Amino acid sequence: MSDAHGHHDHHHHHDRTGAKQPEIFSHERAAMLDDPAREAYAPTERIVELLDVPPGGRVLDFGAGTGRYALAIAKAHPDARVVAYDVQPEFLTMIRDRAHAAGLANIEAADAYQGTFERVLAINVLHEIGDADIAAIRNALAPGGTALVIDWDGGIERPVGPPNDHAHSIPEALDRLQAAGLRAEERHDDRFPYHFVLIAGR
Ligand SMILES: C[S@@+](CC[C@H](N)C(=O)[O-])C[C@H]1O[C@@H](n2cnc3c(N)ncnc32)[C@H](O)[C@@H]1O
Repeated sequence: MSDAHGHHDHHHHHDRTGAKQPEIFSHERAAMLDDPAREAYAPTERIVELLDVPPGGRVLDFGAGTGRYALAIAKAHPDARVVAYDVQPEFLTMIRDRAHAAGLANIEAADAYQGTFERVLAINVLHEIGDADIAAIRNALAPGGTALVIDWDGGIERPVGPPNDHAHSIPEALDRLQAAGLRAEERHDDRFPYHFVLIAGR
């Protein structure tokens, strides 16, 4: 969709071609996303650090869920603007309530976004989005911008997360990103024993 100024809005659609997981993660399982146990293998503080938001940067959390990470980013970077994007309105309501309760004015929760971003975060999202959404992540990057893509490693045995046939191995993930026009590199990090950490740019 374009407005009178020719700006494009990215709205959600239902083309999930290429997605590895048959269904998206339901808002009915929100409590799992808020589980403090996640900190042991996907530490929020480290994710905020890896994202490396530049001063005054615009950040897109693609598939933000309950806002666990988007809210932490907004809090850590008061000068940044964070858009928490998700297709499930139940999640967007939760994020808005939490932002309000925390007094955070630099975060917006929406099912659409405009413009480009210096940083995009996609955590536990790659295996459930289609190829068109990976292209949308690419198109959302400002010149020089980077996407931090963290997801369950489907190439290892894990006690948590989706079954391996619903997750990507590292080579599969790199191939999918490359096919959508993103150059990605693994950024191995010992604090993520069950996930791969990729940094992607245009
Ligand atoms: C497993 S949850 C992860 C949520 C959050 N990133 C986290 O790690 O706590 C996946 C999220 O991606 C969202 N999602 C799935 N497909 C999407 C799409 N095409 N566009 C935006 N969000 C999507 C789901 O609604 C869900 O909130």
